[in-house]
Amino acid sequence: MSTQNKVIVITGASSGIGEASAKLLAKNGAKVVLGARRESRLQTIVNDIKQAGGQADYRVTDVTKPDDLKALVAQAKATFGGIDVIFNNAGIMPSSPISALHIDEWNAMIDINLKGVLNGVAAVMPDFTTQKHGQIITTSSVAGIKSFPGAGVYGATKFAVRNLMEVIRMESAQEGTNIRTATLYPAAINTELLHTISDQATRSGMDQLYDSVGITPDAVARVVNFAVDQPEEVNVNEFTIYPTKQA
Ligand SMILES: NC(=O)c1ccc[n+]([C@@H]2O[C@H](COP(=O)([O-])OP(=O)(O)OC[C@H]3O[C@@H](n4cnc5c(N)ncnc54)[C@H](OP(=O)(O)O)[C@@H]3O)[C@@H](O)[C@H]2O)c1
Repeated sequence: MSTQNKVIVITGASSGIGEASAKLLAKNGAKVVLGARRESRLQTIVNDIKQAGGQADYRVTDVTKPDDLKALVAQAKATFGGIDVIFNNAGIMPSSPISALHIDEWNAMIDINLKGVLNGVAAVMPDFTTQKHGQIITTSSVAGIKSFPGAGVYGATKFAVRNLMEVIRMESAQEGTNIRTATLYPAAINTELLHTISDQATRSGMDQLYDSVGITPDAVARVVNFAVDQPEEVNVNEFTIYPTKQA
């Protein structure tokens, strides 16, 4: 089973990597169900996909709420008759030095970037286990495989989901449930992510980096499609995606 006809739930689908992935996967024949908080964005993207001949639906979703994820997956099943893939992509990056003690932002990153992924996993796991088929793709970050000053808590959430995806892959292989996982480690991708940085010194440094080397989220979308498109017995599971110019 390739990308064609797969039912794919995508969180963080209202902009950036999620939007680009939804559009590419739908173009390649997947039935995509988009979740995020900004409804008008979701509506516009779903209309764009439909006008281009694709199949798409959306539901307003806050990934910090387990019931929202359950409802998103239930809607995918009701609309398109099943669930094959969840792409846990929603995330925020309000980076700052730990000494600045932006504790509310630490908690928001843990709630969205880590617990949000767990909520997505919990929403699909019963179906994936029963049907012995499914794929969980999660957006970590290069900050999930190496440490960067300013990314203490952001990186902690991204290291955590890396571990989670690998353990799910191993446990599924042991349990014989055929659940595949893939983890993405993007570097500088030009999206709205930097808008979530409130610390001005951190923001201006990141703006300079992204302005000089950033690439479009289509680069990540192509990798997502590659992972989805593999045959059932093949689990491709770790991808860094760097701009060629980024040191
Ligand atoms: N851009 C990069 O350079 C880069 C590098 C490494 C990793 N990443 C990761 O890539 C992922 C996607 O980010 P992006 O770069 O595409 O940035 P983006 O354009 O800001 O997209 C982030 C998405 O997450 C959604 N989101 C945030 N909080 C949410 C919540 N509580 N519930 C549901 N959705 C929520 C946003 O939608 P709403 O605001 O509408 O809810 C938006 O659709 C993130 O996990 C990010 O950490 C990005």
